Amino acid sequence: MTTVELRDVVKTFSSPKGRITAVDNLSFQAKEGEVLGILGPNGAGKTTTLRMIATIYKPDKGTIRVEGIDVLDNPLDVRKRIAYMPQEPDLIPSLSVEEHITYYLRFRGFSKKEAKKRCEEALKSFNLNDHRRKKPFQLSTGLKRRVQLASVLSAKAPVIFLDEPTTGLDPKSKRNTWKLIKDKIEDSGATILLTSHDLYEVEYLADRVIIINNGRLIAEGTPRDLRKRFGKTVKVIFEDPILISNTLMDEFMKVDGIKGIFQVSENAVEIKLDSLDRSINNLVRILASKELKIKDIVTTAANFEDVYLEIIENSGGDMG
Ligand SMILES: Nc1ncnc2c1ncn2[C@@H]1O[C@H](COP(=O)(O)OP(=O)(O)OP(=O)(O)O)[C@@H](O)[C@H]1O
Ligand SMILES: [Mg+2]
Repeated sequence: MTTVELRDVVKTFSSPKGRITAVDNLSFQAKEGEVLGILGPNGAGKTTTLRMIATIYKPDKGTIRVEGIDVLDNPLDVRKRIAYMPQEPDLIPSLSVEEHITYYLRFRGFSKKEAKKRCEEALKSFNLNDHRRKKPFQLSTGLKRRVQLASVLSAKAPVIFLDEPTTGLDPKSKRNTWKLIKDKIEDSGATILLTSHDLYEVEYLADRVIIINNGRLIAEGTPRDLRKRFGKTVKVIFEDPILISNTLMDEFMKVDGIKGIFQVSENAVEIKLDSLDRSINNLVRILASKELKIKDIVTTAANFEDVYLEIIENSGGDMG
């Protein structure tokens, strides 16, 4: 079942330079229980998209539905279904950690007793017991994010938005947070929309990803699919040392499907192909014509970050 659905959504803002289109005819869906990663450069329109789904902004055009409910027709019913961890920390300065979590749960409609019970569970499972009486100014960035995460994930909402949940965390806190998220969502059945600039995070947590650039959808699939579809690198190891001269380089680059060639050691080069299926024959042909003695050819699937960068580049750069 589809939980979140956007169709031809447009959002513009006025800026000193005139109107800018932050979200440009965007359509996508998130299925029930899936973690959907939303990737894209700064200013791509990720947060704006989440805000429209959460009924904070109204779309200029298009339709958005959450569990079948239209955000414009019935914003309150949509809000009840979504727990949103915003990109900017939103802790209330006067509340302690335990007060914040309880307050958040009360706000989400839990009874006083239930909110307290859930808060105790959250303090325990998110390792916040030692900090329960601290106010935001006494907390590190990592702890503040953890309090936000504990609140949002304890609310048991069917739809959860995590907007860059680990930005600013050190590598170890990041990994701990990934584990907490993974454990919590594993059997919650919630649908999660996750934005991040950390490609490892997205690959680890997301079932499927969409990539947005300049407000438009430019790619969609599982991280594995995208890795298969884009960016193939072949490492060719020669019997003898070889030097890739400029002339040789030019000859290679003229071959259909070869996108780059890099010398990686005295007898090996890495060659970037646009697709493995199509271009490998062309590569073999040119290698044979040069009468270079080949010892081995290894294909290496590009890592997810390389693939992501290539997709963004092919889509016409970013707004920066
Ligand atoms: N309230 C607003 N008023 C005017 N312009 C806005 C507003 N919110 C966002 N924008 C603009 O809309 C575009 C998309 O911004 P958005 O915050 O959605 O990007 P993002 O993908 O979340 O980026 P980041 O990765 O940096 O968080 C940007 O050009 C931004 O400046
Ligand atoms: Mg954002």
